[in-house]
Amino acid sequence: MSEGPAGWGEPLYERVLAGVPEGASVLDVGCGPGVFAAFATKRGLRVTGIDADRSAVAAAQREVPGATFEVGDAHQLDGSYDLVALVQVLAHVTNPLKVLKESARVGGLVRATVWGREEESDVRLFGEALAPFLPPRGARRVPAGPPPLTQPDRFRKIAGTAGLEVVALDEVRCPFDYPDEDALVGPLLTADIGRYAVNTAGPAAVRDAVLAAFAPHRHGDGYRLWNLFRVLDARSA
Ligand SMILES: C[S@@+](CC[C@H](N)C(=O)[O-])C[C@H]1O[C@@H](n2cnc3c(N)ncnc32)[C@H](O)[C@@H]1O
Repeated sequence: MSEGPAGWGEPLYERVLAGVPEGASVLDVGCGPGVFAAFATKRGLRVTGIDADRSAVAAAQREVPGATFEVGDAHQLDGSYDLVALVQVLAHVTNPLKVLKESARVGGLVRATVWGREEESDVRLFGEALAPFLPPRGARRVPAGPPPLTQPDRFRKIAGTAGLEVVALDEVRCPFDYPDEDALVGPLLTADIGRYAVNTAGPAAVRDAVLAAFAPHRHGDGYRLWNLFRVLDARSA
C-alpha cells in the first residue's frame, strides 16, 4: 500500500496539514493502513479515514486507535469536514474529477497530493536501469485517456472543473531512504517489470544494472533518492 520506504511521506504530510489548527476535523480519503492518519492524529486533529479496501481499514483501526475508520468509496462522501485530505489517492480512483467534486462538497479545505512528472523524480532510474531487459518502449502499451495528474496544468484544470478555488500547487521533495542494497533492489525484483527483466537476463545482471544506475545516489551504507510530489491546496469556490 505504501509507495516507498517507511517515513518518506512526512514532508508531504507536513504540507497537507500546514496551517490546519489543532482540533480541526479531517477526512482522510483513501487512508490505506493509516500512516497519514497517525501523523495527523498526533498533531491533535480529529481524523476520520475511509478506504475501499476492507483489510486496509482493519489495519488502520489497529494502528491508529485515536482515529475513526470505515470502508467507503471516495466517489461518494458523507459529512462535513474542515479538511479533506487526498494523499496519493487520485491516481488510484476510477474518476478523479468526481472525487474532487465530492471533496469540494464536504470539505472547507481540500488538499491532494500526486507524484510529479517522471523526469522530476529519481525513482525513474529503476525503469531506466531495467530498460535494456524490457521490450522497446514503442512495443509497450501506452495508457489511453487524458494526460495524467502528474502534469500540473491538468491538475489545476481538473480542480477548477470540480468547483475548487486553487490556492496553490506546491512542489514537495521527499527523501526515499534505503538502508542497504537489498532494500533498494529486493522490492523491484518482485514487481512486474523486475520479474520480466529477471526472466530475460537473470537476477545477477539485473541487480548489477540497478546498483550501477543508483551508484551516484549512495548515502551512508545505503541509498537516498529524491522524489518530487505536488500538493494541491484548494478550497470550495
Ligand atoms: C497508494 S494508496 C494511498 C494510501 C494512503 N493515503 C497513503 O498515503 O499511504 C491508495 C489508496 O486508495 C484506496 N482507494 C482506491 N480507490 C478508492 C476508492 N474508490 N475509494 C476509497 N479508497 C480508494 C486504495 O485502497 C488505497 O488504500
